[in-house]
Amino acid sequence: MDKNVLNKMLRPKSVAVIGASATPGKIGYTVIKNLQDGGYKGKIYPINNNTPEILGLKAYVNVTDVPGEVDSAIITVPAKYMSEVTEECGKKGVKGLIVITSGFSEVGRKDLEDEMLAIAARYRMRILGPNIVGSLSNSDKFNGSFAPGLPLPGKASLVTQSGALLIAMDMATYTKHVGFDKLISIGNMSDVDFADLIEWFDEDEDTTCVSLYIEGLKKGRKFIDAARNSSKPIIALKSGVSSHGAAAAASHTGSLAGAAKVYTSAFKQAGVIQASDLNNLFDRTLALSQQPSMKGENLLILTNGGGVGVLATDAAEKYGIPLKFAPPDVQEELKKHMPDFGSAKNPVDMTGMAGNDWYYQTTLYSFAHKWTDGLVVLYCETAMTNPQEIAESIKKAIDESGIKNKPVTVSFVGGAKSDAAMAWLVEHGIPAYGAPDIAVNAMASLREYALLQAHKNNDVVKSDPKARKTALEIITKARADGRDSLTEIEAKGVFTAYGLPVTHTELAKTEDEAVAIGKKIGFPLVIKIVSPDILHKSDAGGVKVNIKDEAGIRDAYKTILANAKAYKADANIHGVAIQEMAPWGTETILGSVNDPSFGPTLMFGLGGIFVEVLKDVTFRVAPISLVQAEEMIDEIKSAAILAGVRGEKPRDRKVLAQTIFAYSSLVHDLEDEIKESDANPVLVYEEGAGLKVADARIILNKK
Ligand code: COA
Repeated sequence: MDKNVLNKMLRPKSVAVIGASATPGKIGYTVIKNLQDGGYKGKIYPINNNTPEILGLKAYVNVTDVPGEVDSAIITVPAKYMSEVTEECGKKGVKGLIVITSGFSEVGRKDLEDEMLAIAARYRMRILGPNIVGSLSNSDKFNGSFAPGLPLPGKASLVTQSGALLIAMDMATYTKHVGFDKLISIGNMSDVDFADLIEWFDEDEDTTCVSLYIEGLKKGRKFIDAARNSSKPIIALKSGVSSHGAAAAASHTGSLAGAAKVYTSAFKQAGVIQASDLNNLFDRTLALSQQPSMKGENLLILTNGGGVGVLATDAAEKYGIPLKFAPPDVQEELKKHMPDFGSAKNPVDMTGMAGNDWYYQTTLYSFAHKWTDGLVVLYCETAMTNPQEIAESIKKAIDESGIKNKPVTVSFVGGAKSDAAMAWLVEHGIPAYGAPDIAVNAMASLREYALLQAHKNNDVVKSDPKARKTALEIITKARADGRDSLTEIEAKGVFTAYGLPVTHTELAKTEDEAVAIGKKIGFPLVIKIVSPDILHKSDAGGVKVNIKDEAGIRDAYKTILANAKAYKADANIHGVAIQEMAPWGTETILGSVNDPSFGPTLMFGLGGIFVEVLKDVTFRVAPISLVQAEEMIDEIKSAAILAGVRGEKPRDRKVLAQTIFAYSSLVHDLEDEIKESDANPVLVYEEGAGLKVADARIILNKK
């Protein structure tokens, strides 16, 4: 990503508006007016083929006629002229195009988009859009858009895939008192994408926090890498989480890997904080743009009302920062600033008698105390107090503490005076919210940021060329048979190549062969049908377990073949799989899907037949590190089962983590081949005893 080019595009010294118009109501008119009204100090060149002057500015017929340099061009001509205009901009030496025009890939005209991109690439121009509202920057007084006006100034910057959302948020920044420096609409993301802008914002001194509204990522891996390398907090609101998970899937993993889960996991992997809705995006953005992260887990809540204190306490638990009692010395000191019937435990209830001085004293002492990692100050408007004075007392205490590396959030519950006092607090760098649970949620985002930073660890691409070669041989053979799925034996062959411990399994084509193999492996045995046409073996009566002797093998052989024929008369039957019956272990599942946005994505969870009911699974985009493999184990709800409950010994976490890590190499190496896969169940034994993959399924990409 060329930062200088993006600087010229988004913070230009000179801008041309191609398709500028003198007709009010046209987008080409509004953009010129917005640039002027916003107070833009750079040069504005309207380009119009039939008007000599627009809004008092000389207009040029062609961008190539402009006498000076043109850093950026905002395009408001219909899509059909785009190629011609792009060519002219290239000739002029324009660095970036902000393409407001619609009518490209979003309506099936990808050809027009590709043409524009090809021309731009020849001239090394970057494209923002097309199909966007434009780009706004408060610090440059640059309103290169048809949005209503520059947003309330602030330290956050927003990148949105939806132009409508930019327009909606723009003026709401004033009513919500959440300031932004830059608002950038990226529309179709034909060229400049989220990752490019995350990198760019990392060096933008006017931005302290990056907010994203995401509908869908095209290059998920690039996004993860950029976000993880960012030194600034990134918060994302993802919409459309319910749609593509519904796609039919042949594996357990495929059916469990809905868009919401994969995105949530990818955000975590990337160190991105998630917002639950639009209001939450504003609230968390405010906190993340104004306050440092909450580095420890001790949250202290100050209040003058018991009710709001309890609401805040509930919220603290709900959002992952549960309250602890304040230590005795803190309680001792705080008791000095409350009546006898107050409480200094936490939440610290100064009661309705609290005035400016108590707020000042308690805030100063609590914030400065080393025990406190984060402070939430609550206030309910009373007749004895003036909200503005309370706000000033809080601010004074925070300033006088001299502490800059701990966060504070505030909530005032009251009327217009409280609202005005909160607006004042926000203006002075203290996030303030109209409800106690929101102030706590905002604080939770600061805690989440600290935790995500602490857990940042890099992926490890660990390719295994030898294993890959073996796997490809198996896959090529299956493809030569015209198949796009592997049999269990083949899938286990692939797993074995990557060092996954699978149950010993061999193919028998005759009854006698089955007996010979069975005797060699040893009893008890499991016998399963091997047919590429029967994926769900149990449903076809194709599985017999706990076979203890030769007679059992013979009986199972006949029954399974008869059942398979009855299930699907024309099924291509390779034979039966004779396999060791692994002893019982904790049933887990490992799997993968090739996600449309993120590529190969791993799943781990509690397995067995109830996996789709319990849905106790977690995801990571491959490749991952060994540490991330361990995080996956810790993350599932049933982690306690693996750690050993009710006298059970802990399971072999080390081998499990290594197996997940090996699986990451497998799906990463075979990204072009594997669509979905399952190792289920993966039977995990006691510490030191390892695990066994009892069943395997691999579905190939169609080629
Ligand atoms: N060079 C110079 N001027 C040109 C030109 C060219 N190659 N092509 C057209 N023009 C002029 C036109 O003559 C017109 O000038 P006028 O107003 O003086 O007559 C002006 O540029 C605009 O062109 P026009 O054909 O009138 O287009 P329009 O204003 O009706 O619509 C768009 C243009 C870009 C606004 C429209 O095509 C569009 O895409 N709208 C959707 C935008 C949108 O919603 N974006 C996404 C938001 S999420």
